[in-house]
Amino acid sequence: MNQLETIREKISGCDDVIIEQLAVRMSHIQEIISYKKATGIPILQPEQEQKQTDALNTKLGDNPFREEILDIFKYIMKNSRRIQAKSLFDYNIFLIGFMGAGKSTIASELQAKLEMERVEMDEMIVQKQGMSISEIFDEYGEVYFRNLESNTLIELQKRKQTIVSCGGGVVMREDNAEHMKKNGRVVLLTARPETIYYRVKDSDERPILNNHMNVDFISSLMEKRRERYEQVADVTIATDGKDATQICEEIIAKLIALDNEKGSPSRENS
Ligand code: S3P
Repeated sequence: MNQLETIREKISGCDDVIIEQLAVRMSHIQEIISYKKATGIPILQPEQEQKQTDALNTKLGDNPFREEILDIFKYIMKNSRRIQAKSLFDYNIFLIGFMGAGKSTIASELQAKLEMERVEMDEMIVQKQGMSISEIFDEYGEVYFRNLESNTLIELQKRKQTIVSCGGGVVMREDNAEHMKKNGRVVLLTARPETIYYRVKDSDERPILNNHMNVDFISSLMEKRRERYEQVADVTIATDGKDATQICEEIIAKLIALDNEKGSPSRENS
């Protein structure tokens, strides 16, 4: 064996150790998630991640490969979150609720915390049609838009472990709710009409509110939809006065409680 081959052998030996240790580390992550689930303690613990990063920095000291190793650990942490999410939710999470209830914001936040896939239904429609939501309403009318929503939901049934931020009116059709429930849980986000108004008042991408951008109209449309939203929801979270982390933690806790009680929806429907 020449010198180069000998070095490559040594590297291959290092890879064996890394693989073995990563697998051990990942199985510990699974143990942690089982423990958290069984004891009901919060799943997301940002302070713990910070502690781990601090400990890592200390361990690395003046290691010559400090930057590179820290970079690798970013991926290790990211994949830990993914393993955690996989063992928590093997189904899609549909966020529903009135315009401005925070569906998109919470979907992004959940995506970052759980490393799950995320889609925005409205964005999917806009991309496919090459038109904005307002243009679709103006040119083809609401029923046409609602049909696009229904088709998008059918397409989404192929996905697994995806967070779906839904358009505010999507659950009004009976069939749509059924499509969601096939392999998913439905999370309703609520907010007071005043909060909603504050969040959407400057938007020109909510054709339903065109010429009605006021608290009274929002309040009466919310009231008309309320029963339907509540019927479809598996869990409901009031968002007023809470930050995104609190809302995410509540969603996760309520979904876990529901799964403990009923089993996962993918098993229910298989
Ligand atoms: C609608 C809500 C919008 C969008 C469309 C219709 C509705 O989505 O789908 O303008 O009927 O409530 P957001 O809830 O994301 O604003």
